[in-house]
Amino acid sequence: MNKITLRFVFCLLTLMASATSYADEGMWMIGNLSPRTWVLLKEMGLELTPQELYDPDGPSLNNAIVMFGGFCSGVVVSPDGLVFTNHHCGFDAIQDHSTTSHDYLTNGFFAKRQKDELPNPDLYVAFHLRTIDVTDRVLSSTDAYTESDVRSAAIMNTCREIEMEVLDTINCIYGRVTPYYRGSKYYMSVYQRFDDVRLVCAPPQSLGKFGGDTDNWMWPRQTCDFCVLRIYAAPDGRPAPYSKDNVPYHPKSYAHISAAGYKPGSYCMTLGYPGDTDRYLSSYGIDNTMRTLNDIRYSVRSVKLAILDEAMRASDATRIMYASKYASSSNYWKFSLGQNKALRDLNVIGEKRELEAEIAEWAETSGKTQYAGILDTLENLYAQNFVADYTLHLLEESFYSGSDILHFALTQMLRAVNAEEEEEDATATHKAIEKAYRDIDVDVDKAVFAAMIKNYRKQAVCNDCWPDFMTKIDSAYGGDVDKYTDQLYSRSRMADKQSMLKVTNMAELFDDDMFDVAISVIIKLFECYSENDIDEYERRLGDALRQMNHDKEYYPDANFTLRLSFGTVGGYTPNADTHYTHYTLPQSLIDKYEQNPGNYDYMLLPSVYKWLKRGKFGSRYTDAATGQMPLCFLTNNDITGGNSGSGMFDGRGRLIGLAFDGNWEAMSGDLKYDNRLQRCIGVDIRYVLSVIETYTGAKRLINELTIEY
Ligand code: ARG
Repeated sequence: MNKITLRFVFCLLTLMASATSYADEGMWMIGNLSPRTWVLLKEMGLELTPQELYDPDGPSLNNAIVMFGGFCSGVVVSPDGLVFTNHHCGFDAIQDHSTTSHDYLTNGFFAKRQKDELPNPDLYVAFHLRTIDVTDRVLSSTDAYTESDVRSAAIMNTCREIEMEVLDTINCIYGRVTPYYRGSKYYMSVYQRFDDVRLVCAPPQSLGKFGGDTDNWMWPRQTCDFCVLRIYAAPDGRPAPYSKDNVPYHPKSYAHISAAGYKPGSYCMTLGYPGDTDRYLSSYGIDNTMRTLNDIRYSVRSVKLAILDEAMRASDATRIMYASKYASSSNYWKFSLGQNKALRDLNVIGEKRELEAEIAEWAETSGKTQYAGILDTLENLYAQNFVADYTLHLLEESFYSGSDILHFALTQMLRAVNAEEEEEDATATHKAIEKAYRDIDVDVDKAVFAAMIKNYRKQAVCNDCWPDFMTKIDSAYGGDVDKYTDQLYSRSRMADKQSMLKVTNMAELFDDDMFDVAISVIIKLFECYSENDIDEYERRLGDALRQMNHDKEYYPDANFTLRLSFGTVGGYTPNADTHYTHYTLPQSLIDKYEQNPGNYDYMLLPSVYKWLKRGKFGSRYTDAATGQMPLCFLTNNDITGGNSGSGMFDGRGRLIGLAFDGNWEAMSGDLKYDNRLQRCIGVDIRYVLSVIETYTGAKRLINELTIEY
């Protein structure tokens, strides 16, 4: 396409996007879709009935979706409880089973027989059973505008009371009441949880994490971001902790897979657990997020990640040890950079200010005095709170998420503060220490610890922002951070792995010097944490918006409850010179590898390279339009972190892909959805199936699936 045509397409697409702006934005509650939304869903191509989608009393697609590990999503794809999720969601589990001699990160993993599937003591999945509106009960326990701390305490008590009523420990059924619209509504989601989830298959990193940090949050993409696990239950079908006597779980329903593909404009919906969005946040809140959370996260993590990166490159054992920690830290490190950039590029604050001016005018002209002055109040509250909020984030990033040894001390201390007086279980203590210390290299940790202090000094914005232990470095060590760190790490028992493994009671550590550091960090954290009315005023602002536009439907912000997002398959035009088509093909992966020698993120295992060059991906996985196997694809589904591993379904409710990322141009998406630019990046299910069948040779898994062509 030449430049002029591209420019024309760009303008046209922009116009079209504003005309259809209702269709793709929104993370809707699956059981709460309005008649109006159903009409739209049908028009767009959904062929399921409401009961086939969600039926609390019978099998429905809802039953095939799992919350994965409390941080991701997954789809059940076989009558024997096989689960598909993202490689990056199973990454921690894959790392846990890896050693330098069995490096499943690098080489991938496949359990040849069912009995070789690997248990993961810390992993669980939960099925959503139903969602109940409990707003009246929760809000009647408090008066809408009493002091915020009193209000929160009353609400919390009622929520816990409601949750207790559905708790069924024998069947692992539990409820979670969560606020929606910042607490204007409350719903309880009821779940059934399974704690025996085993690793079945994972591709090598050079497929499952192809592109690494270089490509993370970006399109075009070639990552085969999947892994396979299996849910096990007691022989009677009930959830049970790991036991060798457990058997594969037979779910109420499982997703069928379509290898028939899609076209631009084809209906697509995601079902999963989006974690956190703040779409109704005020312009002042956005500004605050940029200057505190994002700026700090990016700058502090830059320091920490550089140290980890160097250590990981130098040793295979360290690379494996820190793989998962590195990936999760770098994921939101890059996110913070991208979110601030997109917020600026897309003038999100400017657009918000216009909307806020409209709300203020509406409040005034329609005599809604309860909403008068909200924006001025918010502006003042954020300004007054800035230094404390900034320091809070700086403390968290530098010391809570900095050195792992200090992190362990902090979490143990907070646990001790919250724990009831009860006998400590020596085995549990030993397990907690073993788990935390397995992935700590004391020298690396020490380097991070010292670097965090030096960086904190540079970034702190007030004289009294230093935790006490830092002030002592000045008074007792002449400001020499390295000398202080050396002495601390040689004195502290917590910095001695072997000695730590002998601890049977955390109280043995209470007089350790690392605990002193932890105490001074906690004291500072508490000092910065001030009760204020920001949330309450943000809530009122959201209420005002919904009242002003009362004929419009507003979906609630993501809060890690099950949501549906509907949209269509399609590429995008980020600027007048670039148009991205909606899919990628194998040659683009080979090109990235061949054209970027030495880029670690584009490295390929020789066996993967051979497989790609051979090009025998299985004719069943070929797309009719291109005659090739597709790799990744784009839709305009509205997703966010937590949605990773969400099923992407066609109009008949068949699985066509797994959502795994968002795109760079619209990283502001958690605060404002952009119709023109925001895309969901998915791995095509045919790519997944081909890797399972033709690369891994895991035919026994393919045989369990129901694949429609
Ligand atoms: N950005 C993706 C998400 O948050 C995670 C991708 C993981 N890949 C990586 N290279 N770190 O869902």
